[in-house]
Amino acid sequence: MSAVRTALITGASSGIGRAAARRLAAEGYNLVVVARDEDGLRRLAADVRGRHPAVEVEVLPADLSTRAGRAPVVDRIRRASVPIDLLFNNAGLGHGTPATGNGVEAELRLLEVNTMAKVELMLNALQVMIPRGRGDIVNVSSVAAMGPAWIDSMYGPSTACVLAASEAMAYARRVRASGVRVMALCPGDTRTEFNARARIPDEIVPRWRWLSAERVVRAGLEDLRRGKAVSVPSARYRLLAFLLRHAPRRLAPLLAWDLGAYADAGGRIRFPGGHPAGGGKGGGDRGRRGERGRGAYRVRT
Ligand SMILES: NC(=O)c1ccc[n+]([C@@H]2O[C@H](COP(=O)([O-])OP(=O)(O)OC[C@H]3O[C@@H](n4cnc5c(N)ncnc54)[C@H](OP(=O)(O)O)[C@@H]3O)[C@@H](O)[C@H]2O)c1
Repeated sequence: MSAVRTALITGASSGIGRAAARRLAAEGYNLVVVARDEDGLRRLAADVRGRHPAVEVEVLPADLSTRAGRAPVVDRIRRASVPIDLLFNNAGLGHGTPATGNGVEAELRLLEVNTMAKVELMLNALQVMIPRGRGDIVNVSSVAAMGPAWIDSMYGPSTACVLAASEAMAYARRVRASGVRVMALCPGDTRTEFNARARIPDEIVPRWRWLSAERVVRAGLEDLRRGKAVSVPSARYRLLAFLLRHAPRRLAPLLAWDLGAYADAGGRIRFPGGHPAGGGKGGGDRGRRGERGRGAYRVRT
């Protein structure tokens, strides 16, 4: 068995994925970095090689929104000659505009990247890791997976499926007996390019709620090595996750963020008097409390 381990990181051109690549390189992993932005990946590779000359970095540009686009990544995961020891299954996106107003294709593309790609890569990794008797898989989900945190959106559901799929595999007897570890990493608001790409203004998230990508990655890898199946970095998000998971479903929308209620005609998010509940995503609907009673916003369970 080679002493040098290899990590494959999707969404490595930015945010949490880039932080994971840097951290795993510092731990001595060779890297396979995946995203669409080939230049961004090459810049990352040059930076990593500059800091850690012994680390090898393979740049693997791929669009994870289609099965054909994912095929080279699947091939790389299944290649036996240089096996992948850690899959950091991370690439994803959000839409800050309501699903009811977005095109159907845009929503399906989100589900392809956030959910189908992660499931496909995880299942392929398990196929090669289980017989090998070792391997780690980190599936990046979200606190939004814990309950209806984003309403009028497929983002929460896309991450909920990743959480459920991770737990289904993490607790599977065949997986545990093999020594392979699977974990869902569920961050809260993390300073990355996610919001800008989703057209969600960063200002709606109060400063105390932000996590750094480095902290999310560090906590996630520590939890993986402790054998956790689900990692929620930071105590405040563990509390929010607990509430979203255990609050009666009828009450959960009080903690939720209704994208349709806050998008203006141009699709841009506007929060009257700041964000509802003074929070960011998942912050509640109190900004429109007056309309709730009149039935303008009502969630039936
Ligand atoms: N930031 C947050 O507040 C937060 C909170 C909870 C969970 N998360 C999750 O964390 C993960 C990483 O997001 P981030 O915050 O780091 O966002 P980010 O800075 O926008 O990074 C997203 C990454 O995903 C890649 N990606 C997007 N679409 C892709 C596609 N079709 N094919 C291949 N790669 C694609 C992007 O690369 P290219 O554009 O180069 O392809 C980029 O590297 C996501 O799964 C997200 O749901 C984020």
